[in-house]
Amino acid sequence: MGFRTRLGGELRAADAGTRVTVAGWVARRRDHGGLVFVDLRDRAGIVQLVLDPDQGQAHAAAHDLRNEYVVQAEGVVTPRSAETVNPKLPTGEVEIRVDRLEVLSAASVLPFQLDEENVDETLRLHHRYLDLRRDAMRHNLWTRFRLTQIIRRHMEDNEFWELETPILYKSTPEGAKEFLVPTSSRPGQFYALPQSPQTFKQLYAIAGYERYYQIARCFRDEATRADRTQEFTQLDIEMAFLDPEELFGLMETLFVRVWRELLGAEVAAPFRRMTWDEATLRYGSDKPDLRFGAEISDVTDLLAGTEFKTFRGVVDGGGVVRGLAVPGAMEFSRRDFDDLVEFAKGWGGKGVAWLQLQAGGEIRSPIAKFLSPDELAAIVERCGAAEGDTIFLVADAEEAAVRVLGPLRLHLGERLGLVSDGWQFVWVTGFPMFEWLPDEGRWKASHNPFSAPAPGSERFWEDPAAARSHQYDLVLNGNEVGGGSIRNHRPETQSKVFELLGISAERAEQNFSFLLRALAMGAPPHGGIAFGLDRLAMLVAGVDSLREVIAFPKAQGGVDPLTGSPSPATPAALAEMGLRLANPPA
Ligand code: AMO
Repeated sequence: MGFRTRLGGELRAADAGTRVTVAGWVARRRDHGGLVFVDLRDRAGIVQLVLDPDQGQAHAAAHDLRNEYVVQAEGVVTPRSAETVNPKLPTGEVEIRVDRLEVLSAASVLPFQLDEENVDETLRLHHRYLDLRRDAMRHNLWTRFRLTQIIRRHMEDNEFWELETPILYKSTPEGAKEFLVPTSSRPGQFYALPQSPQTFKQLYAIAGYERYYQIARCFRDEATRADRTQEFTQLDIEMAFLDPEELFGLMETLFVRVWRELLGAEVAAPFRRMTWDEATLRYGSDKPDLRFGAEISDVTDLLAGTEFKTFRGVVDGGGVVRGLAVPGAMEFSRRDFDDLVEFAKGWGGKGVAWLQLQAGGEIRSPIAKFLSPDELAAIVERCGAAEGDTIFLVADAEEAAVRVLGPLRLHLGERLGLVSDGWQFVWVTGFPMFEWLPDEGRWKASHNPFSAPAPGSERFWEDPAAARSHQYDLVLNGNEVGGGSIRNHRPETQSKVFELLGISAERAEQNFSFLLRALAMGAPPHGGIAFGLDRLAMLVAGVDSLREVIAFPKAQGGVDPLTGSPSPATPAALAEMGLRLANPPA
């Protein structure tokens, strides 16, 4: 016989009278003088064990149990009396009257109790094996597993093959810093860890694997945040002969299926579409949260001749004045407004002005006296404001205004309770192909250098600032959950992009000659997308940090409190790889 004949958590009234052996963890022990009650937890749930003083050995053993001991118990499933039935437990109609109890493993003093709330996160990560025993974490990881399972089914139903790509990778410029991996077999040379399987998935498409997918691990040496980790997982997809509409459709059906099966929620497909221009103007963000309105309006033209010097200066200087109207801010105090000014400054803005629309159409605002009645009326109308609304205005260079208004909109939405429940998916398209880095005096690819120009931007080098890429992002409730593009499948176009990005022919040859060669040998038009699996799991599980859906995550600063990585290498190991530290840690 193995460790058990039944799972304790699956026992029900119908099992009464059966003799069972169960095994699991002690979730709780209550000593009622004579009787000892133990809540035993296994993967199916919790069942109550009862130990009677008549059962000498078993009773004595139960007396010494502490939380999280691992035990095996043998006894008879017995109905509970009517008054002791526990309707909160699926097993609550029965208990096991135990006559043999064996401790399989003891547990030392616990750093926290499993049912304790608000345990310090570092402590949780330090003892992750305990933390993972908690119901909430089991639920999160179960959600993640189910999500992956549905994805795999859907991809296979649609003729995608799950194929792997190397982890010891060749450097690819995707924007983030790479992890480098030295090797003793080639001292002084390095692999990179993949930021994503980008180049290899393109090679699959070129090789005729027309529908590739992978649940792929990606690595980016960047600061950890709630929605960003150094090591994360993508649902990575590439297709030959791809029409983006086909991809959108396939992905929409996947998400409809996931939301239905995991949350019992119906999401409407096709999803909304929005251009990057519209998203940036109306939401101040390329990942608009559409769960509430408070859309941003441009009022620059209304202020072209204004007497109000502050606005006039911005408008004359080629800047913009934009604003948004929200309900519920009539009660804001002077202090609240000052805080918002500080908030705007925190985002690199100069400040924020406000107009409150009082009953009877009167406007209360520190700047009302500088604006003409016509200007005020036009602003109110343009912002779609009604009585009881407050309009917030930002005047600045366009980029700075967007940078402030996006976060301000989210902040106000949150603070005023405007954000509704539900799921708002939107495809954002028409991204700028390049971004100018003034400090470095060069262009950077907005997505990645493999994205093709959008129709109309084929001659992107003539006006890189105006060029649009054939890129698309999927945004859910203000989170970027996926991004992809149609790729450059002609080597000439790809070379042109490298050239514009200042990747010399020599460096392109060194780093990407394999890709350029492959593109020159019968590359089909192709494209793909990748979704952040951790982000999706986080949203579906309803938690607010990726670390809640990653079993063994790193904490801030990339440190793993559980194992203590990263940690120093021995001088011998370094020497073998041809390395010597310029600044060895103290
Ligand atoms: P991109 O860099 O946009 O595209 O990544 C795709 C998706 O991966 C998720 N993601 C992250 N999740 C957690 N932590 C991170 N540090 C992190 N970085 C990205 C996001 C994002 O939308 N090769 C391209 C895809 C393609 O073009 O097909 C790529 O990696 O949800």
